[in-house]
Amino acid sequence: MEIKYSELSKRTKSSEIRELLKYTRIKDIISFAGGLPDPSLFPIKDVTRITEEVLQEKGFLALQYGPTIGEPDFIDAIREHTNQYGEEIENDQICVTSSSQQGLDLISLVMLDPGDEIILELPSYLGAIQAFERTGVIMNGIPLQNDGMDIEILSNIIKKKLSVGKKIKFIYTIPDYQNPSGITMSKEKRLKLIEIADKYSIPIIEDSPYRELCYNNSKVPSLWALTNSKGIIQLKTLSKMLFPGMRIGWIAAEKEIVNKFSLMKQSVDLCSPTINQLIIAQYVREGLMKATIERAIALYQEKIACMLNALKKYMPEYVTWSKPTGGVFLWIKLPDYMDSKELIKKAAENKVIFVTGKPFHCDGSGKNTLRLNYSFPTIEQINTGIFRLTETIKEFQKLNKELIY
Ligand SMILES: Cc1ncc(COP(=O)(O)O)c(C=O)c1O
Repeated sequence: MEIKYSELSKRTKSSEIRELLKYTRIKDIISFAGGLPDPSLFPIKDVTRITEEVLQEKGFLALQYGPTIGEPDFIDAIREHTNQYGEEIENDQICVTSSSQQGLDLISLVMLDPGDEIILELPSYLGAIQAFERTGVIMNGIPLQNDGMDIEILSNIIKKKLSVGKKIKFIYTIPDYQNPSGITMSKEKRLKLIEIADKYSIPIIEDSPYRELCYNNSKVPSLWALTNSKGIIQLKTLSKMLFPGMRIGWIAAEKEIVNKFSLMKQSVDLCSPTINQLIIAQYVREGLMKATIERAIALYQEKIACMLNALKKYMPEYVTWSKPTGGVFLWIKLPDYMDSKELIKKAAENKVIFVTGKPFHCDGSGKNTLRLNYSFPTIEQINTGIFRLTETIKEFQKLNKELIY
Protein backbone atom coordinates (compact mmCIF):
# COMPACT_ATOMS: atom_id res chain seq x y z
CA MET A 1 0.00 0.00 0.00
CA GLU A 2 1.35 3.42 -0.89
CA ILE A 3 0.68 6.07 1.71
CA LYS A 4 1.22 9.74 0.96
CA TYR A 5 2.62 10.90 4.27
CA SER A 6 1.90 14.40 5.56
CA GLU A 7 4.54 17.12 5.39
CA LEU A 8 4.53 17.15 9.20
CA SER A 9 5.30 13.45 9.38
CA LYS A 10 8.14 13.95 6.90
CA ARG A 11 9.59 16.65 9.14
CA THR A 12 9.40 14.36 12.20
CA LYS A 13 12.91 13.05 12.71
CA SER A 14 14.12 10.20 14.83
CA SER A 15 16.47 11.36 17.53
CA GLU A 16 20.16 10.52 17.38
CA ILE A 17 19.70 9.46 20.98
CA ARG A 18 17.42 6.55 20.00
CA GLU A 19 20.48 5.00 18.37
CA LEU A 20 22.23 5.03 21.72
CA LEU A 21 19.64 2.66 23.17
CA LYS A 22 21.55 -0.29 21.74
CA TYR A 23 24.29 0.41 24.26
CA THR A 24 21.92 0.05 27.22
CA ARG A 25 21.66 -3.67 26.37
CA ILE A 26 25.36 -4.31 27.07
CA LYS A 27 25.79 -6.45 30.18
CA ASP A 28 27.01 -4.58 33.31
CA ILE A 29 27.03 -1.23 31.53
CA ILE A 30 26.62 1.82 33.77
CA SER A 31 24.14 4.22 32.23
CA PHE A 32 24.15 7.96 32.82
CA ALA A 33 21.94 8.26 29.75
CA GLY A 34 18.22 8.46 30.63
CA GLY A 35 16.39 10.95 32.83
CA LEU A 36 14.74 8.27 34.93
CA PRO A 37 13.82 8.66 38.60
CA ASP A 38 15.30 6.18 41.06
CA PRO A 39 12.66 3.40 41.21
CA SER A 40 13.43 2.79 44.90
CA LEU A 41 11.47 6.02 45.49
CA PHE A 42 8.30 4.70 43.87
CA PRO A 43 5.59 4.50 46.56
CA ILE A 44 4.23 1.16 45.40
CA LYS A 45 2.44 0.26 48.66
CA ASP A 46 0.68 3.62 48.96
CA VAL A 47 -0.33 3.64 45.30
CA THR A 48 -1.68 0.08 45.62
CA ARG A 49 -3.76 1.05 48.67
CA ILE A 50 -5.02 4.30 47.18
CA THR A 51 -5.90 2.62 43.87
CA GLU A 52 -8.05 0.13 45.74
CA GLU A 53 -9.75 2.88 47.71
CA VAL A 54 -10.38 4.99 44.61
CA LEU A 55 -11.85 2.01 42.77
CA GLN A 56 -14.07 1.07 45.70
CA GLU A 57 -15.28 4.59 46.43
CA LYS A 58 -15.30 6.16 42.97
CA GLY A 59 -14.88 3.30 40.51
CA PHE A 60 -17.82 4.61 38.48
CA LEU A 61 -15.84 7.85 37.91
CA ALA A 62 -12.32 6.44 37.81
CA LEU A 63 -13.00 4.08 34.92
CA GLN A 64 -15.08 6.60 32.96
CA TYR A 65 -14.11 9.33 30.45
CA GLY A 66 -13.45 12.58 32.23
CA PRO A 67 -13.47 16.31 31.42
CA THR A 68 -10.81 17.24 28.84
CA ILE A 69 -9.52 20.03 31.03
CA GLY A 70 -9.02 17.61 33.94
CA GLU A 71 -10.75 16.00 36.93
CA PRO A 72 -11.90 18.69 39.43
CA ASP A 73 -10.39 16.71 42.35
CA PHE A 74 -7.03 16.60 40.63
CA ILE A 75 -7.14 20.28 39.69
CA ASP A 76 -7.77 21.06 43.39
CA ALA A 77 -4.77 18.89 44.26
CA ILE A 78 -2.56 20.75 41.77
CA ARG A 79 -3.59 24.05 43.32
CA GLU A 80 -2.78 22.69 46.78
CA HIS A 81 0.61 21.39 45.61
CA THR A 82 1.42 24.67 43.86
CA ASN A 83 0.48 26.67 46.96
CA GLN A 84 2.64 24.42 49.16
CA TYR A 85 5.57 25.47 46.98
CA GLY A 86 4.78 29.14 47.45
CA GLU A 87 2.99 29.89 44.17
CA GLU A 88 -0.51 31.08 43.46
CA ILE A 89 -2.70 29.43 40.85
CA GLU A 90 -6.43 29.44 40.11
CA ASN A 91 -8.32 26.30 39.11
CA ASP A 92 -9.34 27.83 35.79
CA GLN A 93 -5.69 28.45 34.90
CA ILE A 94 -5.02 24.70 34.69
CA CYS A 95 -5.41 22.18 31.87
CA VAL A 96 -4.35 18.65 32.77
CA THR A 97 -2.10 16.96 30.20
CA SER A 98 -0.80 13.47 29.57
CA SER A 99 2.52 14.73 30.94
CA SER A 100 4.66 17.59 29.72
CA GLN A 101 5.51 16.03 26.39
CA GLN A 102 1.84 16.43 25.53
CA GLY A 103 2.03 20.00 26.82
CA LEU A 104 4.79 20.64 24.28
CA ASP A 105 2.72 19.00 21.57
CA LEU A 106 -0.31 21.14 22.44
CA ILE A 107 1.85 24.26 22.39
CA SER A 108 3.13 23.40 18.94
CA LEU A 109 -0.39 22.62 17.69
CA VAL A 110 -1.99 25.75 19.16
CA MET A 111 0.78 28.28 18.62
CA LEU A 112 3.02 27.36 15.69
CA ASP A 113 2.81 27.54 11.90
CA PRO A 114 5.53 26.68 9.39
CA GLY A 115 8.02 29.52 9.04
CA ASP A 116 7.31 30.97 12.50
CA GLU A 117 10.29 32.08 14.56
CA ILE A 118 10.81 30.88 18.13
CA ILE A 119 13.57 31.29 20.68
CA LEU A 120 15.00 28.59 22.89
CA GLU A 121 18.10 27.94 24.95
CA LEU A 122 21.27 26.48 23.49
CA PRO A 123 21.27 23.66 24.58
CA SER A 124 17.61 22.84 25.27
CA TYR A 125 15.39 19.83 25.95
CA LEU A 126 15.52 17.47 23.01
CA GLY A 127 11.83 16.50 23.23
CA ALA A 128 10.88 20.17 22.89
CA ILE A 129 13.19 20.62 19.90
CA GLN A 130 11.53 17.61 18.26
CA ALA A 131 8.00 18.85 18.97
CA PHE A 132 8.76 22.34 17.65
CA GLU A 133 10.93 21.30 14.71
CA ARG A 134 8.29 19.12 13.04
CA THR A 135 5.95 22.12 12.76
CA GLY A 136 8.43 23.73 10.35
CA VAL A 137 9.42 26.64 12.60
CA ILE A 138 12.73 28.49 12.63
CA MET A 139 14.48 27.93 15.95
CA ASN A 140 16.82 30.61 17.26
CA GLY A 141 19.17 29.31 19.96
CA ILE A 142 20.43 31.58 22.74
CA PRO A 143 23.66 30.35 24.37
CA LEU A 144 23.38 29.43 28.04
CA GLN A 145 25.74 30.96 30.56
CA ASN A 146 26.23 29.71 34.12
CA ASP A 147 23.22 31.75 35.27
CA GLY A 148 20.87 31.24 32.33
CA MET A 149 20.53 32.45 28.76
CA ASP A 150 22.74 35.24 27.43
CA ILE A 151 20.33 38.16 27.70
CA GLU A 152 22.35 40.45 25.45
CA ILE A 153 22.24 37.95 22.58
CA LEU A 154 18.54 37.39 23.27
CA SER A 155 17.82 41.08 23.02
CA ASN A 156 19.92 41.46 19.85
CA ILE A 157 18.23 38.54 18.10
CA ILE A 158 14.77 39.90 18.87
CA LYS A 159 15.72 43.36 17.60
CA LYS A 160 17.29 41.88 14.46
CA LYS A 161 14.21 39.77 13.69
CA LEU A 162 11.84 42.67 14.28
CA SER A 163 13.92 44.94 12.06
CA VAL A 164 13.26 42.60 9.11
CA GLY A 165 9.56 42.32 9.86
CA LYS A 166 9.64 38.95 11.66
CA LYS A 167 7.74 38.18 14.84
CA ILE A 168 8.88 35.86 17.61
CA LYS A 169 6.08 33.46 18.57
CA PHE A 170 7.49 32.59 21.99
CA ILE A 171 10.59 32.17 24.12
CA TYR A 172 10.93 28.63 25.47
CA THR A 173 12.99 28.26 28.64
CA ILE A 174 13.69 25.64 31.32
CA PRO A 175 14.76 27.97 34.11
CA ASP A 176 15.19 25.46 36.93
CA TYR A 177 18.01 22.87 36.84
CA GLN A 178 17.74 22.79 33.10
CA ASN A 179 17.62 19.67 30.95
CA PRO A 180 20.27 19.03 29.70
CA SER A 181 22.69 21.44 31.42
CA GLY A 182 21.59 21.41 35.07
CA ILE A 183 21.88 25.24 35.00
CA THR A 184 19.43 27.50 36.87
CA MET A 185 18.52 30.97 35.67
CA SER A 186 19.34 33.65 38.25
CA LYS A 187 16.61 35.95 39.57
CA GLU A 188 18.32 38.88 37.90
CA LYS A 189 18.16 37.18 34.50
CA ARG A 190 14.57 36.10 35.06
CA LEU A 191 13.62 39.72 35.64
CA LYS A 192 15.50 40.85 32.53
CA LEU A 193 13.91 38.10 30.45
CA ILE A 194 10.45 39.14 31.68
CA GLU A 195 11.21 42.78 30.90
CA ILE A 196 12.28 41.97 27.33
CA ALA A 197 9.35 39.60 26.73
CA ASP A 198 6.96 42.22 28.04
CA LYS A 199 8.53 45.01 25.97
CA TYR A 200 8.09 43.05 22.73
CA SER A 201 4.88 41.21 23.79
CA ILE A 202 6.41 37.76 23.43
CA PRO A 203 4.90 34.94 25.51
CA ILE A 204 7.32 32.90 27.63
CA ILE A 205 6.97 29.11 27.89
CA GLU A 206 8.31 28.13 31.31
CA ASP A 207 8.96 24.37 31.30
CA SER A 208 9.69 23.37 34.85
CA PRO A 209 9.69 19.64 35.62
CA TYR A 210 12.60 19.78 38.10
CA ARG A 211 11.75 22.83 40.20
CA GLU A 212 10.67 20.89 43.29
CA LEU A 213 13.91 18.87 43.26
CA CYS A 214 15.98 21.62 44.86
CA TYR A 215 19.04 20.60 46.90
CA ASN A 216 20.21 23.82 48.51
CA ASN A 217 17.05 25.56 49.75
CA SER A 218 17.75 28.56 47.57
CA LYS A 219 14.85 28.52 45.19
CA VAL A 220 14.67 31.43 42.81
CA PRO A 221 11.06 32.54 42.21
CA SER A 222 9.48 31.03 39.11
CA LEU A 223 8.66 33.18 36.08
CA TRP A 224 5.03 32.38 36.87
CA ALA A 225 5.37 33.91 40.35
CA LEU A 226 7.48 36.87 39.23
CA THR A 227 4.89 37.94 36.64
CA ASN A 228 1.76 37.03 38.58
CA SER A 229 1.24 34.57 35.71
CA LYS A 230 0.92 37.34 33.07
CA GLY A 231 2.41 36.35 29.72
CA ILE A 232 3.58 32.97 31.01
CA ILE A 233 2.58 29.50 29.86
CA GLN A 234 3.93 27.06 32.39
CA LEU A 235 4.43 23.33 31.87
CA LYS A 236 4.47 21.02 34.87
CA THR A 237 4.70 17.25 35.23
CA LEU A 238 4.71 14.62 37.94
CA SER A 239 7.27 12.58 35.97
CA LYS A 240 10.39 13.72 37.80
CA MET A 241 9.16 14.71 41.25
CA LEU A 242 6.92 11.62 41.63
CA PHE A 243 6.84 8.99 38.87
CA PRO A 244 6.50 9.10 35.09
CA GLY A 245 4.42 5.94 34.63
CA MET A 246 1.03 7.59 35.14
CA ARG A 247 1.80 10.18 32.44
CA ILE A 248 0.18 13.14 34.19
CA GLY A 249 1.10 16.81 34.08
CA TRP A 250 -0.53 20.17 33.42
CA ILE A 251 -0.33 23.43 31.50
CA ALA A 252 -0.93 26.61 33.45
CA ALA A 253 -1.78 29.88 31.71
CA GLU A 254 -4.32 32.66 31.61
CA LYS A 255 -7.86 31.26 31.43
CA GLU A 256 -8.53 32.03 27.74
CA ILE A 257 -5.24 30.44 26.69
CA VAL A 258 -5.92 27.35 28.81
CA ASN A 259 -9.29 26.96 27.09
CA LYS A 260 -7.54 26.99 23.72
CA PHE A 261 -5.23 24.18 24.87
CA SER A 262 -8.16 22.22 26.24
CA LEU A 263 -10.01 22.55 22.93
CA MET A 264 -6.99 21.22 21.06
CA LYS A 265 -6.56 18.41 23.60
CA GLN A 266 -10.11 17.23 22.79
CA SER A 267 -8.94 16.38 19.31
CA VAL A 268 -5.73 14.76 20.57
CA ASP A 269 -6.83 12.36 23.33
CA LEU A 270 -10.23 13.48 24.72
CA CYS A 271 -8.92 13.38 28.29
CA SER A 272 -5.96 12.23 30.39
CA PRO A 273 -6.54 8.98 32.35
CA THR A 274 -9.24 9.67 34.96
CA ILE A 275 -8.11 6.91 37.32
CA ASN A 276 -4.55 8.29 37.47
CA GLN A 277 -5.79 11.79 38.25
CA LEU A 278 -8.00 10.50 41.08
CA ILE A 279 -5.20 8.40 42.56
CA ILE A 280 -2.78 11.31 42.54
CA ALA A 281 -5.42 13.68 43.92
CA GLN A 282 -5.73 11.46 47.00
CA TYR A 283 -1.95 11.05 47.16
CA VAL A 284 -1.58 14.82 47.40
CA ARG A 285 -4.49 15.20 49.88
CA GLU A 286 -2.81 12.69 52.22
CA GLY A 287 0.40 14.76 52.15
CA LEU A 288 2.29 11.91 50.48
CA MET A 289 3.41 13.90 47.47
CA LYS A 290 5.46 16.34 49.51
CA ALA A 291 6.91 13.42 51.50
CA THR A 292 7.94 11.59 48.31
CA ILE A 293 9.57 14.73 46.94
CA GLU A 294 11.48 15.18 50.19
CA ARG A 295 12.76 11.60 49.99
CA ALA A 296 13.81 12.20 46.38
CA ILE A 297 15.65 15.36 47.41
CA ALA A 298 17.56 13.55 50.16
CA LEU A 299 18.58 10.73 47.82
CA TYR A 300 19.51 12.88 44.83
CA GLN A 301 21.44 15.29 47.03
CA GLU A 302 23.66 12.37 47.99
CA LYS A 303 23.97 11.27 44.38
CA ILE A 304 24.93 14.65 42.97
CA ALA A 305 27.47 15.12 45.78
CA CYS A 306 28.96 11.74 44.85
CA MET A 307 29.11 12.63 41.14
CA LEU A 308 30.70 16.02 41.78
CA ASN A 309 33.29 14.45 44.12
CA ALA A 310 34.13 11.74 41.61
CA LEU A 311 34.49 14.29 38.80
CA LYS A 312 36.77 16.41 40.93
CA LYS A 313 38.84 13.40 41.92
CA TYR A 314 39.25 11.76 38.52
CA MET A 315 38.65 14.18 35.62
CA PRO A 316 41.58 15.79 33.80
CA GLU A 317 41.78 19.60 33.90
CA TYR A 318 40.72 20.07 30.25
CA VAL A 319 37.20 18.81 31.08
CA THR A 320 34.66 21.16 32.70
CA TRP A 321 31.20 20.53 34.12
CA SER A 322 28.13 22.31 35.52
CA LYS A 323 27.44 22.27 39.29
CA PRO A 324 23.68 21.64 39.54
CA THR A 325 21.88 22.52 42.75
CA GLY A 326 18.77 20.58 41.77
CA GLY A 327 17.22 18.40 39.09
CA VAL A 328 18.74 15.22 37.68
CA PHE A 329 21.33 16.24 35.06
CA LEU A 330 24.90 17.45 34.87
CA TRP A 331 26.56 18.81 31.73
CA ILE A 332 30.12 18.13 30.59
CA LYS A 333 32.23 20.15 28.17
CA LEU A 334 35.18 18.48 26.47
CA PRO A 335 37.84 20.35 24.51
CA ASP A 336 36.49 21.71 21.18
CA TYR A 337 38.30 19.15 19.08
CA MET A 338 36.57 16.18 20.77
CA ASP A 339 33.34 14.68 19.47
CA SER A 340 31.19 12.98 22.11
CA LYS A 341 29.52 10.88 19.41
CA GLU A 342 32.88 9.22 18.81
CA LEU A 343 33.67 9.15 22.53
CA ILE A 344 30.53 7.17 23.33
CA LYS A 345 31.67 4.23 21.20
CA LYS A 346 34.82 3.96 23.32
CA ALA A 347 32.84 4.59 26.51
CA ALA A 348 30.46 1.72 25.69
CA GLU A 349 33.48 -0.59 25.29
CA ASN A 350 34.52 0.55 28.78
CA LYS A 351 30.95 -0.11 29.99
CA VAL A 352 29.69 3.37 30.66
CA ILE A 353 27.31 5.49 28.58
CA PHE A 354 25.89 8.99 28.54
CA VAL A 355 23.89 11.12 26.12
CA THR A 356 25.77 13.06 23.44
CA GLY A 357 25.25 16.84 23.55
CA LYS A 358 24.73 17.80 19.91
CA PRO A 359 21.05 16.75 19.60
CA PHE A 360 20.21 19.29 22.34
CA HIS A 361 21.47 22.14 20.15
CA CYS A 362 18.93 23.43 17.65
CA ASP A 363 21.76 24.88 15.52
CA GLY A 364 23.72 21.61 15.25
CA SER A 365 26.58 22.80 17.50
CA GLY A 366 27.72 21.20 20.77
CA LYS A 367 29.55 18.15 19.44
CA ASN A 368 32.06 18.43 22.32
CA THR A 369 29.38 18.25 25.03
CA LEU A 370 27.56 15.46 26.82
CA ARG A 371 24.86 14.99 29.46
CA LEU A 372 25.06 12.83 32.56
CA ASN A 373 22.08 11.71 34.63
CA TYR A 374 22.60 11.01 38.33
CA SER A 375 19.10 10.15 39.59
CA PHE A 376 18.96 6.61 38.19
CA PRO A 377 22.41 5.04 38.85
CA THR A 378 23.29 3.95 42.39
CA ILE A 379 25.99 5.76 44.39
CA GLU A 380 28.39 2.91 43.70
CA GLN A 381 27.63 3.01 39.97
CA ILE A 382 28.15 6.78 39.91
CA ASN A 383 31.61 6.47 41.40
CA THR A 384 32.67 3.56 39.17
CA GLY A 385 30.97 5.08 36.12
CA ILE A 386 32.76 8.43 36.46
CA PHE A 387 36.06 6.60 36.87
CA ARG A 388 35.38 4.62 33.67
CA LEU A 389 34.31 7.77 31.83
CA THR A 390 37.46 9.56 32.90
CA GLU A 391 39.68 6.74 31.70
CA THR A 392 37.80 6.74 28.38
CA ILE A 393 38.21 10.51 27.97
CA LYS A 394 41.94 10.26 28.70
CA GLU A 395 42.38 7.46 26.14
CA PHE A 396 40.29 9.40 23.65
CA GLN A 397 42.25 12.58 24.19
CA LYS A 398 45.51 10.78 23.44
CA LEU A 399 44.00 9.47 20.20
CA ASN A 400 42.64 12.90 19.23
CA LYS A 401 45.98 14.54 19.94
CA GLU A 402 47.77 12.00 17.77
CA LEU A 403 45.33 12.83 14.97
CA ILE A 404 45.75 16.59 15.38
CA TYR A 405 49.52 16.78 15.65
C1 LIG B 1 12.38 19.99 30.27
C2 LIG B 1 11.47 18.83 30.04
N1 LIG B 1 10.23 19.05 29.59
C3 LIG B 1 9.39 18.05 29.38
C4 LIG B 1 9.74 16.73 29.61
C5 LIG B 1 8.73 15.66 29.33
O1 LIG B 1 8.44 14.93 30.47
P1 LIG B 1 7.09 14.13 30.68
O2 LIG B 1 6.40 14.00 29.36
O3 LIG B 1 7.50 12.82 31.23
O4 LIG B 1 6.29 14.93 31.62
C6 LIG B 1 11.03 16.44 30.08
C7 LIG B 1 11.47 15.07 30.29
O5 LIG B 1 12.60 14.75 30.51
C8 LIG B 1 11.92 17.53 30.31
O6 LIG B 1 13.15 17.35 30.78
